[in-house]
Amino acid sequence: MTSVLGIALLTLVLSGSTVAFVPIGGGASTHVSITGTALLQKVTETCRVVAEEEGHEFKPTGSSPEELVQACLGPKATGKVSGAKFHSALQEIYTQNGLVDRDFVNSAPHHFNSEAFVEGRSLIIEGMAAIKANIRKENFQAARETLGRILHTLQDFYSHTNWVELGYTEPYINLIRPDLALENLAGVDTATCSDCASGTCLNSILPNILNEKKLTSGYMGIFSSAKPKGKCSHGGAADLTSTADPRGGISKDERRSDNLALHNSAVKEATAASLQLLQDIRLAAGNNDFLRMMGIARSAVVCFVIDTTGSMSIDIHAAREVVYEIIDSKKGTQDEPSEYILVPFNDPGFGPMVRTTDPDKMKSEISKLTASGGGDLPEMCLSGLQLALTGAPASSQIYVFTDAVAKDIGLKDSIVALIRTTKSTVSFFMTSAIKRRRRYSRAATFEVYKDLALASGGQAIQVTKKQLSEATSIILDTSTSALVTVLQRARSPGKQETFPFMLDESLKNITIYLTGTAITFTLTNPAGVSQSQSEASGKLGTLNTVGNLWRIRVDADNQSGTWQININSKQPYTLKVTGQSTITFIYDFVESFKGPHPGYAIISGRPQAGQPATLMLSVLGRKGPSSMTIGEVALVTLSSPETVSNSTTTDMGSGNILVTVNAVPEGEFVVTLKGTDKVSDSKFQRQSTTQMSISKVNIQAVVDSSVRPGEAFKLTFSVLTQGSGGQYKINARNDRDFPMTVPSRLTLTTGEHTNSTMTITPPANTPSGTDVTLTLDAMSSSGADSNYIVLRFSVLTKITDFVQPLCEVVNVLADDCPADVSQCEPFKWELSAQLTDGNGTGIESISLYRGSGNLSTTSLSTHFIQANYIASCCSQIVEVVALDKVGNVGKCYHSIVHSAGPPALTMSLWLCLLVSALVTRF
Ligand SMILES: *[C@@H]1O[C@H](CO)[C@@H](O)[C@H](O)[C@H]1NC(C)=O
Ligand SMILES: *[C@@H]1O[C@H](CO)[C@@H](O)[C@H](O)[C@H]1NC(C)=O
Ligand SMILES: *[C@@H]1O[C@H](CO)[C@@H](O)[C@H](O)[C@H]1NC(C)=O
Ligand SMILES: *[C@@H]1O[C@H](CO)[C@@H](O)[C@H](O)[C@H]1NC(C)=O
Ligand SMILES: *[C@@H]1O[C@H](CO)[C@@H](O)[C@H](O)[C@H]1NC(C)=O
Ligand SMILES: *[C@@H]1O[C@H](CO)[C@@H](O)[C@H](O)[C@H]1NC(C)=O
Repeated sequence: MTSVLGIALLTLVLSGSTVAFVPIGGGASTHVSITGTALLQKVTETCRVVAEEEGHEFKPTGSSPEELVQACLGPKATGKVSGAKFHSALQEIYTQNGLVDRDFVNSAPHHFNSEAFVEGRSLIIEGMAAIKANIRKENFQAARETLGRILHTLQDFYSHTNWVELGYTEPYINLIRPDLALENLAGVDTATCSDCASGTCLNSILPNILNEKKLTSGYMGIFSSAKPKGKCSHGGAADLTSTADPRGGISKDERRSDNLALHNSAVKEATAASLQLLQDIRLAAGNNDFLRMMGIARSAVVCFVIDTTGSMSIDIHAAREVVYEIIDSKKGTQDEPSEYILVPFNDPGFGPMVRTTDPDKMKSEISKLTASGGGDLPEMCLSGLQLALTGAPASSQIYVFTDAVAKDIGLKDSIVALIRTTKSTVSFFMTSAIKRRRRYSRAATFEVYKDLALASGGQAIQVTKKQLSEATSIILDTSTSALVTVLQRARSPGKQETFPFMLDESLKNITIYLTGTAITFTLTNPAGVSQSQSEASGKLGTLNTVGNLWRIRVDADNQSGTWQININSKQPYTLKVTGQSTITFIYDFVESFKGPHPGYAIISGRPQAGQPATLMLSVLGRKGPSSMTIGEVALVTLSSPETVSNSTTTDMGSGNILVTVNAVPEGEFVVTLKGTDKVSDSKFQRQSTTQMSISKVNIQAVVDSSVRPGEAFKLTFSVLTQGSGGQYKINARNDRDFPMTVPSRLTLTTGEHTNSTMTITPPANTPSGTDVTLTLDAMSSSGADSNYIVLRFSVLTKITDFVQPLCEVVNVLADDCPADVSQCEPFKWELSAQLTDGNGTGIESISLYRGSGNLSTTSLSTHFIQANYIASCCSQIVEVVALDKVGNVGKCYHSIVHSAGPPALTMSLWLCLLVSALVTRF
């Protein structure tokens, strides 16, 4: 059920609820701490191997995730690489892990309760297959979410079953090996526990169960006390079966004085089991993709959405130039993008999305774009943007090039929902091609782009085609690994106003952007020195202007302190102050949930009106969370008059802060943070870029399984309004254009859940591992109230191949190797092996996992491969990994450490070590 959930967490009780996804720290063992321990250990191990392969030293300066990322990325990452993506990836996994206690609270298989062994294992096996398929399609977010959930189930096994009581000290490998049967399960008629009147007995498993090593688990009843005769219960107040004979419970979730040893063993084995599962995923994914899934990559992602209709040739040229410049100027630096994404759109088409880590591929793809077609009608800009928002990692910078208004304006609400969920920033480069466009509806103007830019914290830049290449320098500024926003405000209509902001010592490449027309401004530093818009190169920096954009590069090496900018314009304007710094923060709006194992869940839509808003926030610094002090966190409206809503903060450990805001501002707001960096004793200020607002409407839905190609997937959702009832318009969109059936309207009654269903059907030929993002929104007939939910599904073909490739060592020639290893140079040894995949999907790849020799393979058929290995006698161990087409991992291990016996022996010995159940290495 829960967590191996530490009772010590009760010290963190907030308004009466315990916390199920408190991050690592706090001392007690929870799902999060177990998951965190395993993830950090596996990432560290993988980083070390990758670093060695790349020939640099792996030497983290400390144990914080930030320092791990820094060390893992190696010399390229000197200085300014943010740990934000890694931190976010960890949080995503923790969150999904915790949510199993909310979304599947009453599902026995998800917690290995009530002897649901076969079903519980199926969840794990199916999840592992989904993760591998997702990673192959580079759908890392989907992979992380599934990983979080199945780790929960795997970990619960050790707490909720009698595995530990049976005396096992290693994880049950069969849970992650579908080819191995689950054996010796206690039958439904077999009594398993003795009665325990006190509710907490040391070990109430019946002696014959222990002797016969029968596997059982505790029954759990949230609504009913019924359980089969003689069966163990989970135990605890929420489990009604625990008061039915035999009373008590065998759950080891909590650490109590009476169950210390059992609890500790459960935690130890749950951690070891998590590591085994992660190792299997890592071997199937490869080290690089495993680290990418974990968010360990330079964080700059270059994402372009480009209009390719007839009038766009100059714009395409400018976009191409800037992509080339980014690739060429940032190669080998910490700012080199880790990924490139390109989405063309035209009329009427859009896509496909090109996504690559290879800069040369990006260059060639963008070179292929040509301007053609397109009539009088505006284009599919928002459809292209939708693909980019769902395809790019969260918090990406996306640049849109267009000279026309959007035809697909109906997508606007979905785009805003995606922006809010992904926290990506969208900037538009809009050039005019007025002649081509004669008429369009009044609503369809560039205003839509301005709204979207503002909502995401991006900029809407309006220039002539001639000026475009001057304006794109903003893209170079923002494609960096550690971009932070210090201040962002918008005024519409414009007015004269002074904006103070604090620059800290960690900030580099400080740039101020203003968009607007007929604007004057004066910038003043902490010492009172000023520069106005008329001084292109002054004491404080250099300015340039193109179209509606002003850009000020601040020459501030040691100008920490409070600056201000006084702006005067009657026209609408926006202000943005950015820099590069490793000091940043990540946040999510959350809500608490109750139940036997309460916790916090991230809200997918907008937070609820009429109640306090809560956020979970982490501050990242150079040396991990302990090096930062949080000052005030507030919600601030972007437009005038500014409303500032202060908060109360609670430290949840490990730099995670629970923020409660009692009076949430009306309208759109951002999150602002002030604090102190203890390393430099410098005060800093940061703000979020994505706008948010509260809503009276609430939509709930849970995706509880993957989706099969060609089959309709039924999703139940529930809509609630605290505003006025009546007809609400329901609108659903998905980024793959999969057919859907959705009710167009629902009639709501204030304060009551209205439940409904929709279906989505991926075509039969959808490749396994594809993910699809669904946005579902509900809007009152007046348009005054609305909210949305964003859901992600994985399409997965039914896996029938669960058999690992088999590796058999057929010959070892190690006679030349001297018995004394110190004499190993220059002698060599050889090994040959046969790899087969029986009736499986066929071997896809073979790689050397350990050993410094040379591996060569000869393919005799897709199911039968001969491998030859030759190594120096100094490298005494080899491990070969074979993957089949669905990611089943087969291994083959050989060591010559003790094989210095008579030659005949090594010659004739057939060593077949299928490293499986027996060997676990961490
Ligand atoms: C940022 O500043 C550093 C020096 O502090 C400079 O070398 C680098 O070129 C700047 N980056 C950009 C994108 O301007
Ligand atoms: C900051 O700049 C001033 C001159 O503008 C200089 O005298 C001072 O030494 C600098 N301080 C640091 C810490 O670099
Ligand atoms: C919010 O906090 C700031 C700084 O602590 C304070 O100046 C301001 O008065 C507070 N505002 C409200 C509404 O409490
Ligand atoms: C409707 O959904 C809500 C929330 O998911 C749930 O609590 C409620 O029981 C459902 N009602 C019905 C009639 O299914
Ligand atoms: C392959 O399939 C055949 C027929 O279904 C079966 O007899 C055989 O044992 C299978 N071989 C392996 C290695 O699983
Ligand atoms: C492996 O191959 C490389 C390049 O062909 C060669 O230099 C090296 O000696 C080989 N190693 C062994 C152990 O044969």
